Amino acid sequence: MTNRTPLIAGNWKMFKTCPEAIETAAQLVKLLAGAREDIDVMIAPSFTALAPVSDVIKGSCVSLGAQNIFWEAQGAFTGEISPAMLVSAGCKYVIIGHSERRQYFNETDETVNKRIQAAVNNNLIPVMCVGESEKERESKNTFSVLDKQVKKGLEEFSPDDLERLVIAYEPVWAIGTGKTATSDQAQEAHQFLRSVFEKSFGNTLAKSIRILYGGSVKPNNIAELMAMPDVDGALVGGASLDPETFSNIVQFKR
Ligand code: PGA
Repeated sequence: MTNRTPLIAGNWKMFKTCPEAIETAAQLVKLLAGAREDIDVMIAPSFTALAPVSDVIKGSCVSLGAQNIFWEAQGAFTGEISPAMLVSAGCKYVIIGHSERRQYFNETDETVNKRIQAAVNNNLIPVMCVGESEKERESKNTFSVLDKQVKKGLEEFSPDDLERLVIAYEPVWAIGTGKTATSDQAQEAHQFLRSVFEKSFGNTLAKSIRILYGGSVKPNNIAELMAMPDVDGALVGGASLDPETFSNIVQFKR
């Protein structure tokens, strides 16, 4: 048995204006009122909607996350957002190194590392995304890609620093494509990731770290994924935008 509380997280990406985000969050809070308490729930709206959504979800079972963070405390960095800004907007979590950031915005393992450091220093829970592309999977490089992303992304960290870290395994070929990894493929990757943590940071962290699966998670595949021993939750994109769909994912039937 582990003490890994499952986490179901919604990544709203660049969707929803402030009024739309407020409305969605309010509906979600209603739908999840009285939901079971053995699951952590997080939503990550756009930066502009963080503070208003934080007000809406106050006192509910839903926590707030951001989709990115900059590593400097403050300064002349036009367009960036600081850790303190996220904390003051009510964030508990921050998604780091999403494949869309890596693919379109030159995010590297080195910048992921700096962002995780900033999150840890500011008491935010980092949700670090890793995952292979279709080409990397086809050329049988999935494990080496995951190994490198974890080792470089977490270079110089101690197990204590990473106590609250969450990993999201998101195979790039499964994101927004409707192609979900099978539960066996997810389990295989998650088990491998746990073994990387065991080698790099020891057994205690490897056993306690939460590893989420992400990539076309829907109400009809969540139960099968969650039944896998090393799947501790999900990072949901498209299916998190509709409150009813997302609440069905959170309240999946075991
Ligand atoms: P998806 O996105 O659920 O739309 O595939 C997942 C993600 O990018 O986090």
